[in-house]
Amino acid sequence: MRSKYLVKELLSEITDLLTPYIPRASREAQLLLMAHLNIDELWLITHQTTEVENTKELFEWVNRRVKNEPFEYITNRVSFYSEEFFIKEGALIPRPETELLIEEVIKNFPDKESSLTFVEVGVGSGIISVVLARHFLNASFIAVDISEAALEIAKVNIEKFGLSDRIELRLGSLLEPVDEKIDYLVSNPPYIEDGVVLESNLDYEPQNALFGGKVGDEIIKELLDEVLKQKIKFFTCEMGYDQQDKIRLYLEHKNIHSLEFYKDYSSFDRGFTLKVQN
Ligand SMILES: C[S@@+](CC[C@H](N)C(=O)[O-])C[C@H]1O[C@@H](n2cnc3c(N)ncnc32)[C@H](O)[C@@H]1O
Repeated sequence: MRSKYLVKELLSEITDLLTPYIPRASREAQLLLMAHLNIDELWLITHQTTEVENTKELFEWVNRRVKNEPFEYITNRVSFYSEEFFIKEGALIPRPETELLIEEVIKNFPDKESSLTFVEVGVGSGIISVVLARHFLNASFIAVDISEAALEIAKVNIEKFGLSDRIELRLGSLLEPVDEKIDYLVSNPPYIEDGVVLESNLDYEPQNALFGGKVGDEIIKELLDEVLKQKIKFFTCEMGYDQQDKIRLYLEHKNIHSLEFYKDYSSFDRGFTLKVQN
């Protein structure tokens, strides 16, 4: 490592370091450098012969990336619903398909002025509650998680978007810490079957954000029980691609108004909205 590099030299050296380990190494090198210098693509293209100093942190990032640590945990940023959020190890990295859960809620509840009480179970980094709070301007949110580490990360994002007065974080399991009447429940719970072997970069993500139990849908079913018991009018939930039939069966002969499933960008089943009769 030298004390100074031209941008083009840095890109070439980082690409060489990443190439044995990472597909699309030259693109990753660009993205790491852009995040490190806080610059955009146009700057990068037009400043190939600009000198860069203080590259120690950048090379530390490269060393972490070659071990397959996710880019988002290294750079502490992730984009979701066209906004940039803070992220670090301890909360799940938001996935693009979760944007569809937001779309689903907005479709089901067109009145964005309404003063609803939303509850989110499994807030993680806070992306769902934050995006919904920016859409439903008079709504209040209670956001629950069993992970203190996740709640700390959600707090950073809630403060970043100036929403501390409308999103309250609570530590606990499922709806245990919530006594209030809930108008709309949302959740992207862990729903993968215990023991499934996942890609190695998922080792960095909190396992209690991924695995939902022996079958996988246990947490979803516990939430369904609560929704029926408390007669919560709306429940939108993400789920696994193969869980539609089990959820349909579970709700057979129960007193519901409607149950609609939605698909993700690859046309796999990805979630549902349950409406319950009062
Ligand atoms: C799939 S992650 C979703 C995070 C975030 N909402 C998102 O969509 O990116 C699931 C979250 O549920 C939390 N969780 C797991 N079991 C829980 C439980 N019994 N009660 C509350 N939260 C739970 C995990 O800690 C994790 O933050």
